[in-house]
Amino acid sequence: MSVGQFVGGLLHGADYNYEQWLDLPEQLDKDLVYMREAEINVLAVGVFSWSMLESDEGIYNFEWLDQCFDRLHKNGQKIILATPSGSKPAWLSEKYPEVCQMAADGIRQPHGGRHNHCRSSVKYREACVRINTRLAERYGTHPALILWHVSNEYNGIPCFCPQCLAAFRDWLKKRYETLDSLNAAWYTAFWSHRFTSWEQIFPADPSIHGLMLDWQRFTSDRTIDFFLAESEPLRRITPDIPVTTNFQMPDVGLDYHKFAGYVDIISWDNYPKWHCAPDDGPEAIKTGFFHDMCRSYLGKPFLMMESGPGANSWQGISKKKKKGMHLLSSIQAVAHGSDSVQYFQWRQSRGGQEKFHDAVISHLGTDDTRIFREVAETGSVIKKLSAVAGTDTKVQAAVVYDFQNGWALGNAQLQRNTGKNYQKECIAQYGAFWKAGIPCDVIGPEYADFERYRLIVFPMLYMLSEKTAEKIRAFISHGGVAVATYLTGIVNESDLCYIGGTPGNLTDVFGLAVEETKTIAYYEAPEFVMNGNNWKATHYADRIRLCGAKALGVFTSSFEELPAVTACEYGKGTAYYICTRTRQAFIDWFYRELCKKHSVDSCVLREIPAGVSVRERGGVMFIMNFNCRETTVSLGENVYRDMLTEESISGTILLPPYGIIILAKKREPGEK
Ligand code: GLA
Ligand code: ZN
Repeated sequence: MSVGQFVGGLLHGADYNYEQWLDLPEQLDKDLVYMREAEINVLAVGVFSWSMLESDEGIYNFEWLDQCFDRLHKNGQKIILATPSGSKPAWLSEKYPEVCQMAADGIRQPHGGRHNHCRSSVKYREACVRINTRLAERYGTHPALILWHVSNEYNGIPCFCPQCLAAFRDWLKKRYETLDSLNAAWYTAFWSHRFTSWEQIFPADPSIHGLMLDWQRFTSDRTIDFFLAESEPLRRITPDIPVTTNFQMPDVGLDYHKFAGYVDIISWDNYPKWHCAPDDGPEAIKTGFFHDMCRSYLGKPFLMMESGPGANSWQGISKKKKKGMHLLSSIQAVAHGSDSVQYFQWRQSRGGQEKFHDAVISHLGTDDTRIFREVAETGSVIKKLSAVAGTDTKVQAAVVYDFQNGWALGNAQLQRNTGKNYQKECIAQYGAFWKAGIPCDVIGPEYADFERYRLIVFPMLYMLSEKTAEKIRAFISHGGVAVATYLTGIVNESDLCYIGGTPGNLTDVFGLAVEETKTIAYYEAPEFVMNGNNWKATHYADRIRLCGAKALGVFTSSFEELPAVTACEYGKGTAYYICTRTRQAFIDWFYRELCKKHSVDSCVLREIPAGVSVRERGGVMFIMNFNCRETTVSLGENVYRDMLTEESISGTILLPPYGIIILAKKREPGEK
């Protein structure tokens, strides 16, 4: 399902907090003019409007929202309507204190802030269903409505109230059925932690890893359950209006791979920290990784529900975007699969915590500003890219990023705990594909169909379920190419260590068993040799014994000439293993070679300069320069059409700092 169909192209929009401006109607009038000027075709409204919509229990005030809908509709804009549960009204907390979360010490959190309601509270769920029912009944058939935006940025902050604890114990009963099997899974013989009744279980004991992991899983599941409960009236009353909820940057304590299965369209809020380092390349790679994860959740286009039109106000230092960066950052989202460029927010708030967060219309209140001009320019570019809406990219490579693995690894007390950096390591592997212009998905081990890919990387997949191990085995035996690294397959889904060699259940597939994992301290710099080059090893290094694999890289004498990189033929495929953390230079080289060797689709451009990203989507090639300097890119023999200027382009082009070029392959006369 693509919401682009409603506007015949990509969406360009913003959060519109109309209710904050009711006392300044002349500003609201100007908005309509400015929105048209900036080619804004969609607004997300109602995100935090509960106290304005329901001033006391059962007392509704929809007039302002009616007016907002009608004015935007007449002005040619579509609407994404939010449910207001992201922030609760004071009367609700006062009347039903159970809607506020409880900390582990039993103290209820005071009313205020946002994103802090109890997900189990019967009263909160009832109140949400009531208001959402009203919204669906009132606006469900409005011609401007295209999408439901359920709540806002759900998170996994746990609540320890009696209702949540009871729900957790029920969740455990479903998972384990008996206390005996729970005690076995949690290894409670350790430190005398055996439970003899369900009521004894309290999820605040970091020494029981199984318990902590299940509590994290439960909290994520509870959030999904809450989302389903508050979406029910929307689905029932407006079955034709798709439903989304805006995800955040991982990791916020939610298993988004699982959550994704319950929404119609993925959307997320993208806030890169541009210009906080001298080189924006690493931030661009990280942002690309998050975008690609969003595209991979459901294997289809997503929406960038929020992004900052300027600087935010929640970082220690937030930089204004340098010339070109706004368009570049917006186009990056589209290039990776977004069907929208949307902002937080349209108009900068006068008061409250976010009053210094840049918006499309600043406190100056006019369209004659740098930020507005950049937004308007982006609007006109987006309009020219309508052919891209709804299209996909052919992908043969994937990096696995597993939220639950991140939690388990976070809980684990390893022999090196400083610098575990799970997410960073996944991004490092992904970075090799980004730099080579090779499209790459970012997938969850449990939900993804491995068989769709030619090459899958499993970085630090410490917690490997038996099911995933079987999927990996099948994938390789059918001809797939897999790469696993140090710290893979150490524990099973109950966080219990595999006995008999790691990677657990896969030692025959990888043709090796890890005997121990050594820690590398900061002052050490062991090396391994591969392909005639010396490469640095850092952080972790496995001592392995080969049982079928051959060594492709070998540590130098400081590490006893042990294997460092191995390959093993298994069935029709190949299983590679990298025994140590390495520097980026090795990663970049290794995956380039691997893609060549195993014929993973490469980029049409032969040479991609550092800091430049090349992405293809729906037959359109996006070339994006994240360098703060001019950069030359060679297009090879092909002739292209510049989609923004309609000029023919070939040969060598010069991209300005933070510049982009968007190209369609030019058809020769007679060519189909
Ligand atoms: C998030 C929220 C918005 C706003 C922005 C500020 O993404 O969803 O309501 O607070 O951050 O950056
Ligand atoms: Zn609770």
